[in-house]
Amino acid sequence: MPPILEIDRVVKRFGGVTAVDHVSLSLEAGHIYGLIGPNGSGKTTLFNCITGVEQRDEGEIRFKRRRIDGLKPHQVFHEGIGRTFQIIRVFPELTALENLLVVTTDDYAQASERARELLRFVKLEGLAGEYAGNLSYGQQKLVEFIRVLMTDPELILLDEPAAGVNRTLLNDLLDAVRQLRDRGKTVLLVEHDMKVVMGLCETVFVLDHGEKLAEGPPGVIQTDERVIEAYFGR
Ligand SMILES: Nc1ncnc2c1ncn2[C@@H]1O[C@H](COP(=O)(O)OP(=O)(O)OP(=O)(O)O)[C@@H](O)[C@H]1O
Ligand SMILES: [Mg+2]
Repeated sequence: MPPILEIDRVVKRFGGVTAVDHVSLSLEAGHIYGLIGPNGSGKTTLFNCITGVEQRDEGEIRFKRRRIDGLKPHQVFHEGIGRTFQIIRVFPELTALENLLVVTTDDYAQASERARELLRFVKLEGLAGEYAGNLSYGQQKLVEFIRVLMTDPELILLDEPAAGVNRTLLNDLLDAVRQLRDRGKTVLLVEHDMKVVMGLCETVFVLDHGEKLAEGPPGVIQTDERVIEAYFGR
């Protein structure tokens, strides 16, 4: 099987800062991948390059063998890549249900059925009519997560989904991510919590100063001297 996503020597610079420095990685469909690295190592910037929020300066990005570098965010979204943002983006003045309906142009009945199914998926069905602004931070993150699923993307990029989420909601989130994988979806997540990474990811990529430092199963990565040095050695 060809990889679903191929990142090939991608470079992104901001003035004198090389935020992503010749990074190559390859994702196979139906797996959960982790992207880790110290603060400022380029994780969000790489997500931005994949999703067209930023334009890469060099390299190629292919999704299902088609070039997607150069596409606009809405075009990448239509290709079948969904993402959440590190800083939460729900509409506080809309209900949980309405927050899901904003992304879809399907007929209303169908969309609202899908939205209710997704609320059940993360055990939030009882809060469908609640204003998102009244939900806990963790619940808002779950709403943002399932909003990504409204269009049934094949590849899901999650930027720190577990940060600030309490244990119960976190378990609901982790279960949901595993179920997506079991249905053949591909997930790439940025995460600082190594317990989450260890419990969820099959392969982990480590960035440091914009460069890919290591790649492998989480158990191996966790004991990799270079990785430990990058996190703790400064
Ligand atoms: N729009 C921008 N303009 C200028 N510099 C930027 C911009 N976005 C990111 N950077 C810089 O690029 C580098 C990588 O930042 P990025 O946000 O991708 O890191 P990160 O790994 O997501 O960090 P964190 O773990 O803190 O979220 C940093 O040096 C950052 O200051
Ligand atoms: Mg980030």
